[in-house]
Formats: sequence, C-alpha cells, structure tokens
Amino acid sequence: MSQSSSRTSALTIAQTLQWQADMGVDTTVSNEPQKLRQSSDSSLLPPARERCGATNEGEQTNAASVSRGGDTGEQTAPPPSRSAPRLPLQGGVGESPLPNTQPLVKITPNNPLAPAQAAAQVQKLADEATTLDDLRTAITNFTSLAICKTATNVVFSDGQPHAKVMIIGEAPGADEDIQGKPFVGQSGQLMDKALACIGLTREENLYISNTLFWRPPGNRKPTPEELTICLPFINKHIALIKPNYLLFVGGTSASFLLQTKTGITKLHGTWQDYTNPYLEAPIPSFPLYHPSFLLRQPMLKLEERLTESGILPQKEQAA
Ligand code: URA
Repeated sequence: MSQSSSRTSALTIAQTLQWQADMGVDTTVSNEPQKLRQSSDSSLLPPARERCGATNEGEQTNAASVSRGGDTGEQTAPPPSRSAPRLPLQGGVGESPLPNTQPLVKITPNNPLAPAQAAAQVQKLADEATTLDDLRTAITNFTSLAICKTATNVVFSDGQPHAKVMIIGEAPGADEDIQGKPFVGQSGQLMDKALACIGLTREENLYISNTLFWRPPGNRKPTPEELTICLPFINKHIALIKPNYLLFVGGTSASFLLQTKTGITKLHGTWQDYTNPYLEAPIPSFPLYHPSFLLRQPMLKLEERLTESGILPQKEQAA
C-alpha cells in the first residue's frame, strides 16, 4: 500500500469513527440497534449543523405522531433526521482528519473524566444564567452530551414564564423533537385536555418543561448520568420561573427531582416539598402519572373516577 493510500484509509477510518461517535454510537444505553438511514448514498445525509439547537427550515423528518412515553413504553417512532456529521465524508489527504475543534465530552465507561467535565460545564452555565433568556441560550449552545448531537431541536419550554404552575415531564419524544416544544404529541394533548378541565392552559397560566432538553434516541429513558449532569440546568430553570406549584409528570421526573427511590405509584397524588440550591424556600410539588401511562392504563383512570365518586373506597395515603 502506498503512503498516500494508507493515509487516506486512516483518514477514512478516523472520520467514520468520529462520525459514529457524533451520532451517539459510543453510548451503550440503548438496548435496541438504531437504524440511522436507509441507504449508504451520502447525498441522503442531513446537512451540516453548527450546534445541537439549530433548526433547519424545511428539513424533512420522518417521526410518527406518537410522542415519547416516559416510563410507559409508549410506541417508539422512527428516529427523525439527525444532526449532521461534522466531518466531510470524502476528506482529502491534505485535510485535517479531525477538523471538529468544538469541545466534545463523550460519555463512555472508558472516559470517566468526561461526565465530570460536562457536569462542571453545566454547573457553571447554570450559575451564570440570571434570566430565562440566558438559560435558554446556554442550553441551546450546550453540546457536551451525545443526546445533543442526535436531537433535531432543543426542547426548552412552552407556556407562560409568569405562570404559578410549572410542569416538569421526562424528556422530549419524536413530536417534541421536531416541533421544539414539550408535550405536543399524543400524551401531551391528553395532558392539555385534563389540565384545561381545571382551568390550566399553556396559553394562559401554565409553564411546561422536562428534565432533559433533548430527545434521547429511540425514545429511551434518560440515563441517571444524563439527568445528574443536567440537574443544575433544571434547578436554575425552576428557580427562574419560581412557580407556586410544581407538577412532576411521570416517575422519572418525580423520583429524580425529589431525590427519592420511591416510585410514582406511591408518590402520585401526594404533596411533597421540593427544593434545590437556587431556591430560597421549598416549592410544594405534586407528582402525577405520566399521561402516556394513563393512555395505556384506562383502568387506572376508571378506578380513580370510581374512587372520586365514592363507589370505590379511598386508598390509604403512603406514609
Ligand atoms: N413525554 C414527556 O415526558 N415530555 C414530553 O415533552 C413529551 C412526552
């Protein structure tokens, strides 16, 4: 093999590996293989993207209409168009093999420093954010987790920043990833209807966000590591909104934000004090079942209705 062709194949390997890493292949959390594209035709690759929050107008996505399902196994939509690989596929011999100079923190078992670096970065960005716009910008520019690269859009929030009630769900699903808004899929629509019955709407008096701002690939659950790294972002988000009441929607959000091992079946429907280092006083919080869980468990709703109307006896409150 000539010197130039061995350099070319080394480049190609390095580029391929880097591309796979950028696409999140280095994460070991997904149980199922993800089919990233149908063809090896490089013209089908998505366009280059400078950061994970960037939106490409007119970009085609193939997500189905069912949103992510929290801890409920809601139907998984095919992955939408992905963030672009940062390396040219046909890199020439004279080009640098790794032109991506953006700091990239990989979360792998062999790279134990990486999560610490990402966590320190998040802590600093959250500490420095003094307004909601600051925080949104910091999160939009943050790219140090693999999920930032695989998501189509950053899903920051929806609703009214001066609302007295703030909802925190788990993480964006396929629809949310495409629209860049939380809870817009099937389960979000159910939640909207239920909340409208008690006079809460995102157009008037509700603010909605999630524990993660990027869709985990394949609608998998957020990993404990992702949640822990992003915690200062969530803490600051809550502190800047400073709602009178928090609704934690689903087990992931409830147990993680209350820092408890108690699951949603016990927490659901009980008032809990929530606090974080940015808050001067605790906020009353109310964990709820995830709407997609309710979509799959109509008997639970029925049981609740029968209990509320006195046909079934009240359940004893968890201690
Ligand atoms: N499920 C969530 O937990 N959050 C969303 O935004 C959508 C679905």
